[in-house]
Amino acid sequence: MEVVIEPDADAVGKRAASAVVNLLARKPNAVLGLATGSSPLPVYKELIRQVERGQLSFGGVRCFLLDEYVGLSSDHPDSYLSFIRREFARPVGLAPEQVHGLDGSATDLLAEPDRYERAIRDAGGIDLQILGIGSDGHIGFNEPISSLGSRTRLKTLTRSSRADNARFFGGDVDAVPRHVLTQGIGTILEARHVVLVAMGQSKARPVRKMIEEPVAAMFPASALQFHPHVSVVLDELAAKGLANASYYRETFANKPDYQAL
Ligand code: F6R
Repeated sequence: MEVVIEPDADAVGKRAASAVVNLLARKPNAVLGLATGSSPLPVYKELIRQVERGQLSFGGVRCFLLDEYVGLSSDHPDSYLSFIRREFARPVGLAPEQVHGLDGSATDLLAEPDRYERAIRDAGGIDLQILGIGSDGHIGFNEPISSLGSRTRLKTLTRSSRADNARFFGGDVDAVPRHVLTQGIGTILEARHVVLVAMGQSKARPVRKMIEEPVAAMFPASALQFHPHVSVVLDELAAKGLANASYYRETFANKPDYQAL
């Protein structure tokens, strides 16, 4: 893992966005995996800024969302597809057909994950997956005790994840759907490069467990230790629990050629 510690959320956004910019310079028709939630917003903000300045184009890119709530139609304002359209896809000029999501209102919720896995495969796989981390260690919506080899499937959210996301539903935890479709951990591990961003004090514990504690299904993000190319981009608060922070600073902060990230 590359662990990069930045002073604040803006700098995290810029650093993580540079991974996307470098990828698109090499591969303008790259396939991106997109997360929702608060963590990727500074990344999306920086990418939007570069598009607005004419420095970057998403013309050839295809995107796949990480997860989706069950029971919300894709045009529901709280669906993850609506979120991504609003916060990223429209502002960077991605056409609807360039952005793929799981259909949380599919009549056959057991067939939908297979359709999605096939679509990712047919696109050539995900080149760069942006991730956040949940306070219980979830990535995507792979909650604790998810199989570390799991594929895209239907999952039930824990009460703690629903509470974390209640802020998007007017603070009402009961309004947060109970079920989701999510890429599996095995699916996420197939992305060629994973860029996980985390900011704020509440992420300090999950970030430490992901990076410095043993791999365990009880803490799904720890499975990223198996991946050959993960970049974790943190602000100072999210890095606070790390025992080896000074080593990460020495090793990664001033890496002269940050092409890798
Ligand atoms: C979002 C997702 C989740 C979030 C995680 C952190 O698509 O799959 O794993 O990344 O819940 O959420 P935030 O960034 O809102 O703290």
